[in-house]
Amino acid sequence: MADKLNVISIVGSLRKGSYNAALARQLPKWQPEGMNITAAPPWTGFPIYNADDQNTTGFPKDVEVLADAIRKADGVIFVTPEYNYGIPGGLKNAIDWLSRLKDQPFKEKPVAIQSATGGPMGGARMQYHLRQAMVFLNAFTFNTPEIFVGIAAQKFDETTLEFKDEAGIKFITQQLAGFEKFTRKLSGK
Ligand SMILES: Cc1cc2nc3c(=O)[nH]c(=O)nc-3n(C[C@H](O)[C@H](O)[C@H](O)COP(=O)(O)O)c2cc1C
Repeated sequence: MADKLNVISIVGSLRKGSYNAALARQLPKWQPEGMNITAAPPWTGFPIYNADDQNTTGFPKDVEVLADAIRKADGVIFVTPEYNYGIPGGLKNAIDWLSRLKDQPFKEKPVAIQSATGGPMGGARMQYHLRQAMVFLNAFTFNTPEIFVGIAAQKFDETTLEFKDEAGIKFITQQLAGFEKFTRKLSGK
């Protein structure tokens, strides 16, 4: 049997009760046999990007740690809300830091996207914003099925934050299976 793929999830929300963080935590339940999904190291400690800081003190340790985890991963799954129709600022700042590294970690990296939002669109506008950034970074972004969890409050258990939307679980399972195939095709693994 082929080696299991090492896939890491990067969450775009820092909120304790985050639906996106809850979804990312539950992904191992729906991962295919050949994939092992774990949480990426945090971007919480990244300062606001400033090219002067980069040029004087270099890259913060946390940026190097996350970059290294991305380089070592076979694939990356972003699980993130939409803020004001785009990528949440904290996550965008993290991507901006990572993008300036010499051995840019998203280069030719298989990437999948999922989003959960309070509104009905489920983060569609943010996903196209994130895809756009990934084009510049020359990542290989997986296409369909796309995962948009709209009206999140109705789809997660209020106390445990268990994701309980049957149709959503079916799509996520399909996406992860498709992402495994896609990643193996690209890596030859
Ligand atoms: C700054 C900010 C901007 C937001 N903008 C949007 C938006 O553009 N579209 C949307 O559907 N929801 C928007 N929301 C609502 C979020 O979808 C909702 O708070 C969601 O639960 C956040 O994800 P989380 O639970 O993972 O923290 C916004 C929330 C915040 C705090």
